[in-house]
Amino acid sequence: MTMKLSYDGPFAVITLDRPDALNALQFQMLQAISDAADEVAASDARALIVVGAGPKAFCAGADIKELMDRSLMEQRQGAQLGQRAFDKIAKLHIPSVAVIHGYAFGGGLELAMGCTFRIATERARMGLPEVKLGLIPGYGGTQRLPRLIGEARALELVMSGRTVDAKEAERWGLVNRIVEGDDPLALGKQFMSEFIGYGLCASQFAREAVVRGLETTVEAGLAIEADLSTLAYQTKDAVEGMTAFVEKRKPEFKDV
Ligand code: CAA
Repeated sequence: MTMKLSYDGPFAVITLDRPDALNALQFQMLQAISDAADEVAASDARALIVVGAGPKAFCAGADIKELMDRSLMEQRQGAQLGQRAFDKIAKLHIPSVAVIHGYAFGGGLELAMGCTFRIATERARMGLPEVKLGLIPGYGGTQRLPRLIGEARALELVMSGRTVDAKEAERWGLVNRIVEGDDPLALGKQFMSEFIGYGLCASQFAREAVVRGLETTVEAGLAIEADLSTLAYQTKDAVEGMTAFVEKRKPEFKDV
């Protein structure tokens, strides 16, 4: 298999495992990622980590050889498959991180952008180079990139196909932070350990308020926030969290 789903304590781990082709995404890998997202959604994992095998790449994008000689409808179905797979990751009830330790191009960066967070090592290089192939991004890049880094910078990257290094990506907000180390999984675990100690209710409501609010006006977003924060007060975890504070002890959240 060129994509593996495994579990490591509280973490679900998706490994793109095709290092000889820099983990380039074949259609069967997109389907496997989509199926893996369903499996993770039904698991009791607290966070998802996405990594690429081998020292050179997180993922060099869609498999260009496979993209050739396909009919119009097949191309459209391929784009929809990639979009659906990455959207499932974006909509998981648990947070996710892509650990970019080398190249993340095209579909590879689009997969990373479907994750809640991205972290990168100094060696990371990222871009949406589709324009160089006479193409445009098709697995969510034209939509997620401007939401992450703004219209002007997104257009610069999409229309020039330029590669950015880890420092520029961090400055632009494309990655959350630059991390040091050679083991992507260990780096992902270390980063995600900040998020897994809290109840899933609060963590989900918080993420939902931010993500849904970005799709609408401030006024409608404030209404979403009022509803979700009110809902949070109704959870047993909120009672536990506030009681633990008053009793000066560590809360025990139960995701209810
Ligand atoms: N598809 C298929 N094979 C790929 C690939 C890709 N996207 N990227 C790399 N490979 C293969 C190469 O063909 C090569 O295989 P062989 O050894 O059999 O020739 C192997 O991986 C190693 O690659 P390189 O020899 O090119 O390695 P390099 O270090 O010299 O260069 C690179 C690395 C700059 C990432 C270069 O491989 C490259 O430019 N790759 C293509 C990147 C790209 O254009 N990605 C976008 C794809 S289109 C897309 O993703 C559309 C979309 O939105 C869905």
